[in-house]
Amino acid sequence: MRSTRFLTGITTSGTPHLGNYVGSVRPSVRASLAADVESYYFLADYHALIKVDEPGRIQRSTLEIAASWLAAGLDPDRVTFYRQSDVPEIPELTWLLTCVTGKGVLNRAHAYKAAVDKNLVADQDPDMDVTAGLFMYPVLMGADILMFNAHKVPVGRDQIQHIEMARDMANSFNHRYGEHFVPPQAVIEESVATLPGLDGRKMSKSYDNTIPLFAPREQLKKLIAGIKTDSRTPGEPKDTEGSALFQIYQAFASEDESQTLRKAYADGIAWGDAKQILFERVDREIAPMREAYLDFINNPAKIEGILMNGAAKARSRATPFMAELRHAVGLRRLSDMTGTAPQKAAKAALPSFKQYREADGQFRFKLVDAQGQLLLQSLGFASPKQAGQTIATLQRDGAAALTRLTDQLEPLAVDADTVGAALALLASGT
Ligand code: TRP
Repeated sequence: MRSTRFLTGITTSGTPHLGNYVGSVRPSVRASLAADVESYYFLADYHALIKVDEPGRIQRSTLEIAASWLAAGLDPDRVTFYRQSDVPEIPELTWLLTCVTGKGVLNRAHAYKAAVDKNLVADQDPDMDVTAGLFMYPVLMGADILMFNAHKVPVGRDQIQHIEMARDMANSFNHRYGEHFVPPQAVIEESVATLPGLDGRKMSKSYDNTIPLFAPREQLKKLIAGIKTDSRTPGEPKDTEGSALFQIYQAFASEDESQTLRKAYADGIAWGDAKQILFERVDREIAPMREAYLDFINNPAKIEGILMNGAAKARSRATPFMAELRHAVGLRRLSDMTGTAPQKAAKAALPSFKQYREADGQFRFKLVDAQGQLLLQSLGFASPKQAGQTIATLQRDGAAALTRLTDQLEPLAVDADTVGAALALLASGT
């Protein structure tokens, strides 16, 4: 049976916290144990360079994150666990993908746009403090994924756009050079809760409200004691709704245990006692891993060995695949020249929009592929300008616009992916 390839990256820019554990480490380790899956987990240290310019911090974070995953039960014999920067084929592929990605597509990436918008609001030059690394980030991420032809990419909601871009890159490349890439799909874990932090907002380094995953017992206790609660006194019934303490407890406890705490809330448990219960419950799950974690942290050479093996495993796939891709685009040995005459590849024909006016006086447009097959057909517009605006929206936003524009379009003649691929192709201007 052919297995499904899962792949996910973890940026090495900080110390793992309980939110990372609940949202990413724990579900990924569990998923990696399933049959019929092939998992790729990697330390995204090239990505870290976009955000962090302290070399020591990148190195330390790489150690801490690797140790956390291993301590949480990731089995390096079962999965491919590697450090991005040990696979030089990834930056090499980044360049090939850069050359099939429309600049306009990258202009619309959320992280880059947010940086530009922030400058505009502050009346600054739009590109102030925006590196080309931030701009190119989606292409590097596309290379991470396409290098191993991953089918499924488990990510948080904020990353969906990047997976869509990787799909577009796969389609654009395949269109020009033949079928080499599998367009990947994002997997969003709906059931995995976002953990609140000490102040009740989402646990995140940027809010400085985190509980480090492997804080020593005493520090864990102190941090949990600092979780924000309301001012209700012992004996007063308490709300589980909106209680960060309760939500964190739920992420660790069984259904029965949560039920018991819910009842204790209703019976007016003192906040101090509830915190003690939370502390004991979290520590019960973390303590055995903490020991393994400390062993790893104190033995960086052992982790280095594991990562080196992982890199070798990753490259046993990446190296031959990269050779195939180099050949596909024309980066070839001259000794295996196939013909002497200059060969100009037939310029791949593009899909196109066609506007027209019907007998009813309404203006319409359709999108047809290079062979003239109908991909998309609009409903009637009162003016050609309105039809043109909808075309512009489709050109700008690609597949993402389809669902928003259903009231202006006929039901799709072909599946949405095909239409999306055609729009992406137009955007990249093959
Ligand atoms: N950008 C991702 C994040 O910030 C990390 C990442 C890098 C990643 N490359 C990836 C995730 C490839 C999935 C697949 O969370």
